[in-house]
Amino acid sequence: MNILAIESSCDETAAAVVTDGITIVSNVVASSHDMHEKYGGIVPEVAARLQLESIIPVITEAMKPLQQTPDEPLMDTIGRTIDALAVTQGPGLIGSLLIGVETAKAMALATGKPIIPVNHVLAHMYANFVEGTPVEFPAISLVVSGGHTELYLMESKKELTWLGGTIDDAAGECFDKTARLLGFGHGGGLAIQTAAAAYTPGNTHPITLPRPMLDAKNRLNFSFSGLKTAILREVQALKDQGAFTDETVNQLSYEVQETITDVLVKKTLRAAEDYSVSSILLSGGVSANTRLREKFGILGKQYRIHAPRIGLCTDNAVYIASYAFFRGKEAPWDTITALPDLSVEVKH
Ligand code: KG4
Ligand code: ZN
Repeated sequence: MNILAIESSCDETAAAVVTDGITIVSNVVASSHDMHEKYGGIVPEVAARLQLESIIPVITEAMKPLQQTPDEPLMDTIGRTIDALAVTQGPGLIGSLLIGVETAKAMALATGKPIIPVNHVLAHMYANFVEGTPVEFPAISLVVSGGHTELYLMESKKELTWLGGTIDDAAGECFDKTARLLGFGHGGGLAIQTAAAAYTPGNTHPITLPRPMLDAKNRLNFSFSGLKTAILREVQALKDQGAFTDETVNQLSYEVQETITDVLVKKTLRAAEDYSVSSILLSGGVSANTRLREKFGILGKQYRIHAPRIGLCTDNAVYIASYAFFRGKEAPWDTITALPDLSVEVKH
């Protein structure tokens, strides 16, 4: 079964064709990061306009491997080769989501193909099933993206139960805000990872950051807003002391990365113990973080650790197609709307 999936929830415009949820036929991602760099962050109206400009070229590119001849019209190629369309319905930015949703609906109407609306956050974890990696269930699944930090019990590819999540900022958001504070612009977690790698532990300034919510009461919930405030205070103190240098910036990046990854690992292990599982799945943009992967990797003797390859961690449409195949439900095209606040707290 060939699914053409469309993803436009934030500042990436993506389309992919995936066969039977696991075989990637095409995977195209256009990002408007550079444009947002110019404005110092994501401006929803700018993101939506760029989505509009990119969506048809991106879908056209994703359909290229299936074209019979170079001049075969897009709708003909879709009609001939695609079994179903899938589209991110939410959560995300309303203007961005609308572009993908309305494009998918128009294509469904034009071609008569069924359409499967997809929850972006739940879909992230399905990047683990692409390319046919076998996973033993039950598993604990940690989704860490720019807007979400969530834990799930996954009893099969169809059965998901939400266990906990962040009560304020997401881990990715904390990385992103720290990057901006430290002068890395829109570079996000990757910029922090790079700066952290340039730091030699043992050197320099006393910096200690709180490990939030590690107490027993909030077993499976996260909170990163206190950490964000602590980082802001450290940056201010370093500036006041005239000690805000490349070296302390690297050190602070290292400490922030250690703190966030410690919390993510500890909470995930707690969930794994609570539910007596031996498989752990990581996904979402932050799961591309090499330190996080290293810390989970060390646990490889006790747990089967799965993480998508780096290129499939951040936003793309491959996992949207995979989710649609394994857990999606078709809906009549005229009932599908963009849902910016779509809940991620599923119970089966
Ligand atoms: O899943 P994603 O691409 O988009 C959302 O659905 O939000 O996640 C984006 C997040 C951003 O916060 C970004 O800074 C973070 O993933 N990220 C990383 C790394 N690469 C991307 N965080 C830490 N280390 C990385 N290497
Ligand atoms: Zn995402």
